[in-house]
Amino acid sequence: MSPTNVMRMGAPLLLLCLSFLCCSIGDTYAQENIMPQIPPSLEECYNTSYFMNRQNRLPATIETLISLIEKVENTPTYSYDMRTLSVALLQRFRQDGIQRAYNVAESPGVIPYSPTGFQFPKFRILLSRLIPGNAFTFPNSTLTREERCSLHFMISSSLDLRTRGDESSVCNNLSQYRAQRLRRSPNVERKGGFVGDVEVLESFKAKAQKRGLKKGAYNALDYDFGWTSTGTTTSTTISQCPVENGVIWTPWGTVAAGALLAGVATGLQQQTVQLRTLLALSSRSNGYTNLPQTATVGVDNRWAATLAGDLAEVALVQVPFTSTETASVGANGAWNSTVMPEWYFLSQRQNFEMTDAEIRGGLDGLIIAQNIVSWRTQSSNMKLSQLLRMYYSTNGVLNSGIMACNRKANFATYAPSDQMIVQTSAFSQVLDREMQLGVTLSAANIATFSSSAAAALQSYVPNSLNDVTCTVSSSANSVTNMITPMTNIYVFLDTTWQYNTIVDYLVYILQRLNINPYASSVTLLAANDGSVIVNTTNYLPDIYQGWNVTLQAQYTAGFNLPNVLQTIQNLTQAYMTAEQSNSSVGGRSLIALMMPYSTVQVSSSDSSYATTQLQYIYEQVPDLHFIYYSSGQISRFATFVRDPSQDLFTLNTGSTPSVSSGPVVSRIVQIPRRIINPRCGSNWITPSWGTDQLAQYLNLNGTNFYRMVPNYFYGAGSNRNVAIQSTSGIQFIICTSRTVPLPTQSNATSASGGSTDITCAAIGNGFSYDLSNACNGYSYISQCPPLYISVQAPTSIQTTVSCSDNACQTPNQARYVISVTNLGCYSGVAGLFASFVTIVLAYVLREALQ
Ligand SMILES: *[C@@H]1O[C@H](CO)[C@@H](O)[C@H](O)[C@H]1NC(C)=O
Ligand SMILES: *[C@@H]1O[C@H](CO)[C@@H](O)[C@H](O)[C@H]1NC(C)=O
Ligand SMILES: *[C@@H]1O[C@H](CO)[C@@H](O)[C@H](O)[C@H]1NC(C)=O
Ligand SMILES: *[C@@H]1O[C@H](CO)[C@@H](O)[C@H](O)[C@H]1NC(C)=O
Ligand SMILES: *[C@@H]1O[C@H](CO)[C@@H](O)[C@H](O)[C@H]1NC(C)=O
Ligand SMILES: *[C@@H]1O[C@H](CO)[C@@H](O)[C@H](O)[C@H]1NC(C)=O
Ligand SMILES: *[C@@H]1O[C@H](CO)[C@@H](O)[C@H](O)[C@H]1NC(C)=O
Ligand SMILES: *[C@@H]1O[C@H](CO)[C@@H](O)[C@H](O)[C@H]1NC(C)=O
Ligand SMILES: *[C@@H]1O[C@H](CO)[C@@H](O)[C@H](O)[C@H]1NC(C)=O
Ligand SMILES: *[C@@H]1O[C@H](CO)[C@@H](O)[C@H](O)[C@H]1NC(C)=O
Repeated sequence: MSPTNVMRMGAPLLLLCLSFLCCSIGDTYAQENIMPQIPPSLEECYNTSYFMNRQNRLPATIETLISLIEKVENTPTYSYDMRTLSVALLQRFRQDGIQRAYNVAESPGVIPYSPTGFQFPKFRILLSRLIPGNAFTFPNSTLTREERCSLHFMISSSLDLRTRGDESSVCNNLSQYRAQRLRRSPNVERKGGFVGDVEVLESFKAKAQKRGLKKGAYNALDYDFGWTSTGTTTSTTISQCPVENGVIWTPWGTVAAGALLAGVATGLQQQTVQLRTLLALSSRSNGYTNLPQTATVGVDNRWAATLAGDLAEVALVQVPFTSTETASVGANGAWNSTVMPEWYFLSQRQNFEMTDAEIRGGLDGLIIAQNIVSWRTQSSNMKLSQLLRMYYSTNGVLNSGIMACNRKANFATYAPSDQMIVQTSAFSQVLDREMQLGVTLSAANIATFSSSAAAALQSYVPNSLNDVTCTVSSSANSVTNMITPMTNIYVFLDTTWQYNTIVDYLVYILQRLNINPYASSVTLLAANDGSVIVNTTNYLPDIYQGWNVTLQAQYTAGFNLPNVLQTIQNLTQAYMTAEQSNSSVGGRSLIALMMPYSTVQVSSSDSSYATTQLQYIYEQVPDLHFIYYSSGQISRFATFVRDPSQDLFTLNTGSTPSVSSGPVVSRIVQIPRRIINPRCGSNWITPSWGTDQLAQYLNLNGTNFYRMVPNYFYGAGSNRNVAIQSTSGIQFIICTSRTVPLPTQSNATSASGGSTDITCAAIGNGFSYDLSNACNGYSYISQCPPLYISVQAPTSIQTTVSCSDNACQTPNQARYVISVTNLGCYSGVAGLFASFVTIVLAYVLREALQ
């Protein structure tokens, strides 16, 4: 877009940007995102209206961000470390302050968007002078266009203040979306409900006039409201609940992801640049004398990229227009969906310079920035995805106990008041030179306003920031919480369900199963003919992209149980064959999640066929677990699961996804991982005997549970055992049981209801469980109980753990190896086969006669 177009759109600050660029072009070679236009690499996100429909973007969550980062990290040709990657993400995908031009239509050659928001000048200083680097090596083709653009929208801060027309239904319901709402501290000025348009405009005018600023000499409203208008000022109506962009949902509050990544990048490349150096670099001298301390103060890029940067915006853009010179920080907001979050609405119509999400993102970024060097010393090849995973978990990063849910407690330690004032004041001086303000400020005033902004934050975070604490979120179900899910789940979806009805209930489940390259996978299939909707994947973004309302419409609706069973049998048998060929001892549970429509009834012929087919599957794929999740009388599926009391769930579309789907998640998570004899394959014939091994990783706060079905030890065998060996110096506690599916040490010893069938032992010099005659006295395989095993860490641990295997989800996992020796292959399939053939014939006959 040419400069004339930009100017026609009425963005006075850009004039200054242009002059800035001509002087700093040497430093900023090839950093296209700092140009005052949509850069060519992001054009693909703005040159169609496709991504303006937020349903076409991936859900803005921390999990999506981590998943996309994992995709990049696992690109075979990309082998750069966390520092290079975090810088590349910022340089390639972030551009703050992008707004739609008012009253400009889309047309060929005109993209009606440009970085005209007040957030842009700060962003430009950061990227050009304080976060050096580039995105030259970024593997662009690893991500799809949808993923690239979603990444851009997730990390680029801006506001959309335009009236949308849905305010009457959306804005008043915001409080209902919010988990809890704290009362604002009374000494923080303003807010607490919405103010009518007139009041806002009036109070702004009054304040400006009070400061003796003449209307017409500048356009203060343009700045404060973040966009400029070619029309008359009266057309500038602000939505009752404006939309904030560049924020992501996390379980511990909404976070501005750009500031978070900038914290990582600056922490790994910390610089303190002398204030006078930065001032000398700027194009404009304000004519006022610098303060004496200018000579000695340095701008710390970790502060500038996080809290100090946003506070400087408060000091320059907001404080001059207040009557009392009191800064107001914080702007609370809410998503209208937390399963598929796309829209984040603010509940106030002014003072957006530092929103709640920016406070959290900035604070998280600053805390990470100040610790990351020491974390990297402990774990030298820590990945960016691992860092974020740990920080947004309840285990904390490595052994530090530092994590998102206790950011408020860490505020005083990592953001002390004196440093905050110095850093805000220094950065404000720099920002003042690069930003077109509505007022002209002396250095002394900038310092005063900066202190006011810092003071507001010092009081806001402890008193008013609405955060979820660590304990609240980990209270739910203790057994579920100590398990790290690792499953292969096959979802059979009856596409009679309306996409919009079912999506939240299913996605809620998938989001909680730890789907990533190091743990679970998911396959989504149509329940009528078993055709694949989304092929097996370790990345949830593949599900979001491969399953939407139009794509779902391409599949035949319905639930055909015989087809589903045939498909799952084929898939799982193929999987077992693959495990045989790579000698994998299992590790993941196998689950078929059935989601028939509410009115589905299985006909009696399908039912008798399915019952027999199930007998066959139970023998052939003994680890496969069926779960039904549907509306209506759920007991109609009772004959198709092993345990109707545990495996049938009612889908209640009248309740929230967490209420309806929560129990399904719990059940799936509590199905133990598998230990198998890989030599059996799917035909249950072992050509050889010997030992096979499987490396496993444990979160020290958690417990891993396993199950080995009797099909591997039914007959007698010599030297047959399963053994566990620690390879990380930790003396794990191993519990075994033949009857309790989740044996733990506390259950073994508890006085009331403690089970005598649980045996626990520390690993000592190795742990081994003898299986030579473990089914003595049972006449059928189905009668012989499986072996249940759990592995947990002792309560106090002396050694520090650092896992550098590619397969560990985080570096603070402890590694151990499970070995299985001389396991057999026993299956009752042969006996069933005859009756199965009969049933198949009967079924084929029935189909033919129909
Ligand atoms: C949008 O931009 C992308 C990449 O620059 C290009 O491939 C695509 O054809 C453009 N689409 C339109 C409609 O201009
Ligand atoms: C990815 O795109 C960016 C921006 O267009 C470019 O600078 C970079 O060189 C590209 N990466 C590769 C490996 O070509
Ligand atoms: C907002 O709330 C009203 C009543 O409380 C309800 O009728 C309406 O459907 C809600 N709108 C949305 C978008 O949730
Ligand atoms: C959230 O609000 C937007 C804007 O009104 C609307 O388009 C979208 O459908 C809403 N989403 C949900 C889940 O209510
Ligand atoms: C276990 O979790 C608790 C609380 O979540 C935390 O304080 C503790 O540091 C964690 N321990 C380990 C070893 O991660
Ligand atoms: C699914 O992926 C597997 C390989 O992972 C491939 O063999 C199979 O053909 C794919 N199925 C479909 C329907 O694309
Ligand atoms: C669904 O996805 C397809 C393929 O990505 C896309 O072409 C289509 O526009 C999407 N439909 C909706 C309603 O999002
Ligand atoms: C299952 O596999 C068999 C043989 O391998 C094949 O004939 C059948 O069509 C497959 N069925 C499905 C539903 O994939
Ligand atoms: C073995 O194959 C299975 C199934 O394809 C796969 O899930 C597993 O990761 C593989 N294991 C190894 C060690 O390659
Ligand atoms: C331990 O026992 C209690 C009741 O006795 C039960 O609720 C809990 O699920 C058991 N825990 C495990 C891990 O089995």
